[in-house]
Amino acid sequence: MDTGLFKTVRQSQTTITELMIPSYANFGGKIHGGTLLSLMDKVAYVCASKHAGTYCVTASIDTVDFLHPIEVGELVSLTASINYVGNSSMIVGIKVISENVKTQKFVHTNTSYFTMVAKDDNNNLVKVPALILESTDDIRRFIEAMMRRKLKHTYKQEIQKVKGDIDIERALKVLENERCRVAV
Ligand SMILES: CC(C)(COP(=O)(O)OP(=O)(O)OC[C@H]1O[C@@H](n2cnc3c(N)ncnc32)[C@H](O)[C@@H]1OP(=O)(O)O)[C@@H](O)C(=O)NCCC(=O)NCCS
Repeated sequence: MDTGLFKTVRQSQTTITELMIPSYANFGGKIHGGTLLSLMDKVAYVCASKHAGTYCVTASIDTVDFLHPIEVGELVSLTASINYVGNSSMIVGIKVISENVKTQKFVHTNTSYFTMVAKDDNNNLVKVPALILESTDDIRRFIEAMMRRKLKHTYKQEIQKVKGDIDIERALKVLENERCRVAV
């Protein structure tokens, strides 16, 4: 059991709402994925730095699936909460909802998980407060984040193996069924 500082999830939970202006749109008139990623990074930073009480950096982003396009003129709300804490790292879950103010239609456009790491002014890692889980949702999110973290570790190890294992003869056989032409 941790004997240091504890904070609740609610203490750092953050929502940012932003109007989607024309300069955020791509040539098809929909909002750029990159604009959304930038807003997600911003809300993840606010949430993580509130929890840590320090400056934070983004270490990684786990899966960003854009489920629905967002239109110019809609409001986008991004809610971030700490799902899991390690030593210096925090997994921040972010839910993005778009809102058409005229029709009152709300759409869940994506959910993603940012790993943020707390740092001090000398760029050293900082131990972050442990988490008080006040609801069954807090518990579920903590456990899910732990599982995703473990899976990511396994995935990284498997990818390393794949990188080391490529046999060119076997690769040429596999590529016969793919949409490519080998021109070496
Ligand atoms: C991410 C970073 C802080 C890791 O630092 P490090 O000196 O390698 O430290 P460690 O390996 O001990 O990792 C520190 C923590 O980050 C976590 N971490 C490191 N890399 C990670 C990754 N790719 N994904 C998830 N977590 C990661 C570790 O699990 C560890 O967590 P813990 O303290 O809770 O156990 C460092 O690589 C960094 O500063 N990267 C640049 C970040 C940045 O500039 N982001 C903006 C991009 S424009």
